Amino acid sequence: MSTAISTDLARQVLQAVEAGAASEDVAAIPVPEAYRAVALHADDAERIAALPKGEKRPSLAMHVEDVPTPELAPDEVLIAVMASSMNYNTVWSAIFEPVPTFAFLRRYAKVRGGWGKRHDQPFHVVGSDACGVVLRTGSNVSRWKPGDRVLVHPNDVALEDPQGHDDAIQDPDQRVWGFESNYGGLGELCVAKGYQLMPKPEHLTWEEAASMPLVNCTAYRMLVSPNGAQMRQGDVVLIWGASGGLGGFALQYVLNGGGYPVCVVSSPEKAEKCRAAGAEWVIDRAAEGFRFWGEDGRQDAKEQLRLGKAIRGLTGGRDPDIVFEHPGRDTFGASVFVTRRGGKVVTCASTTGFQHEFDNRYLWMFTKSIVGSHLANYAEGWAANELCRAGRTHPILSKAYPMAEAGQAADDVHANAHLGKVGVLCMAPEAGQGVLDGALREQHVDAITRYRV
Ligand SMILES: NC(=O)c1ccc[n+]([C@@H]2O[C@H](COP(=O)([O-])OP(=O)(O)OC[C@H]3O[C@@H](n4cnc5c(N)ncnc54)[C@H](OP(=O)(O)O)[C@@H]3O)[C@@H](O)[C@H]2O)c1
Repeated sequence: MSTAISTDLARQVLQAVEAGAASEDVAAIPVPEAYRAVALHADDAERIAALPKGEKRPSLAMHVEDVPTPELAPDEVLIAVMASSMNYNTVWSAIFEPVPTFAFLRRYAKVRGGWGKRHDQPFHVVGSDACGVVLRTGSNVSRWKPGDRVLVHPNDVALEDPQGHDDAIQDPDQRVWGFESNYGGLGELCVAKGYQLMPKPEHLTWEEAASMPLVNCTAYRMLVSPNGAQMRQGDVVLIWGASGGLGGFALQYVLNGGGYPVCVVSSPEKAEKCRAAGAEWVIDRAAEGFRFWGEDGRQDAKEQLRLGKAIRGLTGGRDPDIVFEHPGRDTFGASVFVTRRGGKVVTCASTTGFQHEFDNRYLWMFTKSIVGSHLANYAEGWAANELCRAGRTHPILSKAYPMAEAGQAADDVHANAHLGKVGVLCMAPEAGQGVLDGALREQHVDAITRYRV
């Protein structure tokens, strides 16, 4: 039995894509009053919160159902989503931690008012990545038209405050699309602002392309952009979770930028993927059995030292110029400790806990710094996408589930049972479709498919 979406809308969009339909023909496809999507329910929050931590699974709260199609604001586009991907933020949303994302939707409505009020619903269509075809454009969108094949950059900003105009991430009303806003990427349709669109890399399939924007732009800002750690040629960069979503792109940026990655992973299979991608130095943290926190709830300085020695053993005595951080509480003390004098810890997340502890003597006496980084502005997202379009970086997709099984995709990521990125097919009836530039694909096909399982 096929689990692909088979609504009238999906059939018409697929026909139009197949035929390479003209913009006016795509614009003529009727938009239904409701569409199929992956939605959370506000009234599930209490039920999920009452579960013991070990029993929480994202799939318990992810409903695949019809939701009403919102009216389009003048600065927005309506996209027929061919594929999306599973990001960790959907895991957070679906286990209602650290706070139910419905609070973000209420705030969106309150702060922005007007069109913003559409976001405050008893359902939340989640998903912060999307690749598809523009179906409709609002009256203020001039750069894009129906039929354009696009990716969505997941930064949603108001830009009504001067602060956001140097760097949109500084906007006081900055939001992660599909996490802090509704009508995200896990659906047949999604709604984004015109300024979020980027051209689809046409040597990639729908699901490969969809697996990139969020983690790609985040890793780019953390390492490459002047807003992050500003990696230089020759830098040693310790990458936690080097075969995960963020880490898989960090590894590519370090190699492209002339740095020396030290990859940390938790299995021989993951270590092998890093080596295949070009890493020479890999630490299997599971095999090494690092325990940075003791039974007494305190950090173990000996274990931090052991990590530092393992790194020096690989690098010929060098300490990391940059540590690429996101696990958070479990590793942060060790990250600060192993960074070289004057080096940087760049962090964008706290998967294992956001109350970090570190010995500040190692920070101040060795003049290290901690750089906070979040998502990326449109220019950074665009630059990261251009590198991919040129075949300089590649997706790290391992597998793709149909939308009906989006819950399983989220469970895999929650359990750290995945590799690279996990895709979700929305309107795409099967994996492997959507490539227009076969010649460029052929040049890079090994790198593009390296993470497949
Ligand atoms: N602020 C932002 O803009 C932003 C953007 C993207 C993601 N994030 C956040 O960043 C985090 C990672 O995202 P992701 O997409 O890379 O997730 P991911 O695909 O799950 O990768 C995370 C990796 O972290 C490693 N890891 C997990 N637990 C660990 C531990 N206790 N100690 C050391 N390493 C551990 C795992 O690798 P091994 O088991 O192989 O070591 C895993 O592959 C999430 O919390 C996500 O919400 C933030």
